[in-house]
Amino acid sequence: MADRERLVFISPGEPPKAWESAFRTVAPEIEFLSGKAEIAAPETIEWAVVWKPPQGALAKLTGLKCVFSLGAGVDHVLADSEYPRHVPLSRVVDPYLTSGMTEYVVLHVLAHHRDLFRNLKEQAEARWKPFAAKRADEVRVGILGLGELGLDAARKLVPFGYRLAGWSNTRKSEPGIESFAGLDELPAFLGRTDILVCLLPLTEATSGILNTATFDLLPQGARVINAARGGHLIESDLIDALDTGHLAGATLDVFQQEPLPADSPLWAHPKVVVTPHMAAMTDARSTAMAMAESMARVRRDEPPLNPVDLARGY
Ligand code: NAP
Ligand code: GLV
Repeated sequence: MADRERLVFISPGEPPKAWESAFRTVAPEIEFLSGKAEIAAPETIEWAVVWKPPQGALAKLTGLKCVFSLGAGVDHVLADSEYPRHVPLSRVVDPYLTSGMTEYVVLHVLAHHRDLFRNLKEQAEARWKPFAAKRADEVRVGILGLGELGLDAARKLVPFGYRLAGWSNTRKSEPGIESFAGLDELPAFLGRTDILVCLLPLTEATSGILNTATFDLLPQGARVINAARGGHLIESDLIDALDTGHLAGATLDVFQQEPLPADSPLWAHPKVVVTPHMAAMTDARSTAMAMAESMARVRRDEPPLNPVDLARGY
């Protein structure tokens, strides 16, 4: 039995420094293991803080009391078929992550509505060609996923005057945001959406949801913003829809393969804006504080903050 509680940080490729320092501040009593070296007595580790843990790594930690995802999404944890399902999984819900995502969504909705991409192209050609943007109240923005992130982004878009709607599993009642729920209402939601924003969790039900059938239901000239997961998008379907002119543009922050391979046609596609999975990043100081609070709860036999429903996958 170790005399201090032990926490292992598993995030291949990410330096643990910021997290080690955050935990030293909020939970100095806990031993922080960077997960790089072979861990002695792995059965004495209570807490795991993880991003894309290798298959089977968590199952070896037989004394785990809680696993913490380093992000809002947990697909990267549940991809491990050996995940010890009796161990609670907590995800990030944090004001800095939420505001970061909302900034990204508002930025790109505005950029697509006002066609900033056309301005940039014409500037590169030194062409002075004013064009009128649609009125905001003629632009229909639709958000797939009205959870922590989708709802905040939608609420912050309301004051611009857009015609807003969201799609979720369960019906929402939000001023200024039309709610569509369930698969039956997806076609109607898509049919009224000029700018589609994906903020869904990646689950069996949502994998590949941004595909040709979905794009066909969007109006001619629609735009797509995917800030959720690469697994939501069939990239070749998007390129086809852009090349035929059915879709007018896309912003992509996440990809089937990350980093996006140098030979991906998305990099140089004239209608695509690529950002390298940076729409919203987890704030170590604020999130470590919430994790420490979750640990206190688990010690009292309560669920951690922001528990994931493993059956639902989000
Ligand atoms: P969340 O709070 O769990 O919200 C998920 C939303 O999706 C909920 O409204 C849920 O409906 C809806 N939903 C889930 N499955 C559905 C289905 N099959 N059909 C219809 N609606 C469905 O998640 P969040 O915190 O907003 O995060 C969303 C995702 O954003 C994360 O999972 C992550 O992948 C991604 N993300 C990306 C970045 C980045 O930097 N690119 C950063 C953070 C997060 P109900 O409300 O009815 O349950
Ligand atoms: C980032 O992608 C997250 O899930 O928070």
